[in-house]
Amino acid sequence: MSSLVVAIDGPSGSGKSSTSRGVAVRLGLRYLDTGAMFRAMTWWMLSHGVDLSNPEAIAARASEPIIESGTDPLDPTILVDGADAAIAIRSDEVNAAVSPVSAVPAVRTRLLQLQRAIIGEGGIVVEGRDIGSVVAPDAQVKIYLSADAQARAVRRAAEAGGDVEATQKSLLARDRIDSGRATAPLTMADGAAHIDPTPFTLAEVIDQVVVLVEAVSDARGSDA
Ligand code: DC
Repeated sequence: MSSLVVAIDGPSGSGKSSTSRGVAVRLGLRYLDTGAMFRAMTWWMLSHGVDLSNPEAIAARASEPIIESGTDPLDPTILVDGADAAIAIRSDEVNAAVSPVSAVPAVRTRLLQLQRAIIGEGGIVVEGRDIGSVVAPDAQVKIYLSADAQARAVRRAAEAGGDVEATQKSLLARDRIDSGRATAPLTMADGAAHIDPTPFTLAEVIDQVVVLVEAVSDARGSDA
């Protein structure tokens, strides 16, 4: 499995992170949360007083933050300019600003370079919105995880302790921007397997993905 890339895309609240981490742990692979990188970029912009209503102002500073992602699925870390930003990147301010920041092409170009450097020779599960379509179009396994907005809101609110209706509104607002942007929109990549996790437990969804990965590894004559 050393050269394997597993791409897991889908909208917010579809269970991508838990599924991706679980698959990586089961298969002994590294793990990359690209959403955390966009959140880190957004948090840096907020902390540096950048006018987030101005895409040119965002683009002008997109090369500045030093963003480092740890790839241990049991302890994924995110450092911004050397400081632990794991909690800061999950704030309401970042939730509200991350989709517009992610739509700026200079932000995507910068993070694409970092993502590809981390993916390197593979052996990794990568989650995001454009992994199977843009970041790693040659990934051997592509999964599109999605559920209806109500089911996603219930899941997210239970995780974060919020109100379901407000959570659904915030998810739908981000879906609209993430799916409608011109550069690398959220989309189901060619060749992706669609999984709606709603009727399944997390362990069952992880099993389904592991079965798909093992089928591909067997077909390749596996270097596992
Ligand atoms: O997965 P997440 O909810 O933490 O992602 C936060 C935001 O980052 C999401 O609303 C859009 C953006 N994102 C992106 O544009 N491309 C990715 N590959 C991953 C995330």
